[in-house]
Amino acid sequence: MKARAYVNFALIKYWGKKDEKLRLPYQASLSFTVDKLYTDTEVIVNNNLKEDVVYINGVKDDKASIRVIKHLNLIREKYNINKFVEVKSINNVPTAAGLASSASSFAALTLAATKAFNLSLSQKELSRLSRYASGSSSRSIYGNFAIWDVGNDETSIAYPLDINWTEFRIVVLMIDKSKKKASSTDAMKESVKNKELYDNWVSESKKDLNQMIEALKLKDIDKVGLIAEKNANHMHDLIESTNITYRTDESLKAIDKIKKLRNSGVKLYYTMDAGPNIKIITVDSEIDKIKKHFKEYELLVCKSGPDAKII
Ligand code: PMV
Repeated sequence: MKARAYVNFALIKYWGKKDEKLRLPYQASLSFTVDKLYTDTEVIVNNNLKEDVVYINGVKDDKASIRVIKHLNLIREKYNINKFVEVKSINNVPTAAGLASSASSFAALTLAATKAFNLSLSQKELSRLSRYASGSSSRSIYGNFAIWDVGNDETSIAYPLDINWTEFRIVVLMIDKSKKKASSTDAMKESVKNKELYDNWVSESKKDLNQMIEALKLKDIDKVGLIAEKNANHMHDLIESTNITYRTDESLKAIDKIKKLRNSGVKLYYTMDAGPNIKIITVDSEIDKIKKHFKEYELLVCKSGPDAKII
């Protein structure tokens, strides 16, 4: 069984776990699933196997396999299955460079594995199950805009937002394709320790989320962009209060350029995740101007992507 799930980028970030094991967040997050970055994962039940065999981008990667096998064990335990599988996962995303490969990878794995085990789960159930492996992957079950709610083990799932904004774009500005130095899980743990700053992040991000939903309904790119920037900067300031940083000189240089271009009248904003790459938030009418001014970077212009699906 083969599934494809698309990467999502958060406009309102998830940062920090209230419950490590159940992967429950402290605050709700909101994302946009894109069409150009995705993971294809094939899961084949093989009765001759004595253990799972995992290939990621064609190679047997023991470190990455641990997380995959852990998730397969969880699915098997939950649904009383005792079959081993072969997993072949291909990322059309630079792995672990802050381009959210864990989101698309685990959403694709959850869908392909449950189907391979003959389970037929609803999107809500898939979102919940995927959450155990990677928080942000709960949102990649859905295309377009999605919100992942706080809730408890049963209710902390993502759901789609009914917004049809065909002009909305995210342009990935590739700064560095190498692996990130600190995992988001480790960086989150450090950030949560800083109680006063962390509490402030939680309360502000709740306000940001409400404002973001209103701005998206209005399809107001200036409002959406400014709220997303504020939210991302807040997250990175919080991270930098620990000894971790994802913003490199190259990222700051690109941000500076975005601001200058914005001052000249182009509608573009930015967000950043757990890596140095920048995602420009904009609309279709601005793409040619952005391409002209960011010629020195590799750009990936993304539209709204679909739900995770069997292919
Ligand atoms: O789900 P994780 O562990 O890959 O964490 C994702 C964290 C951010 O990408 C920085 C924010 C988000 O909401 O996607």
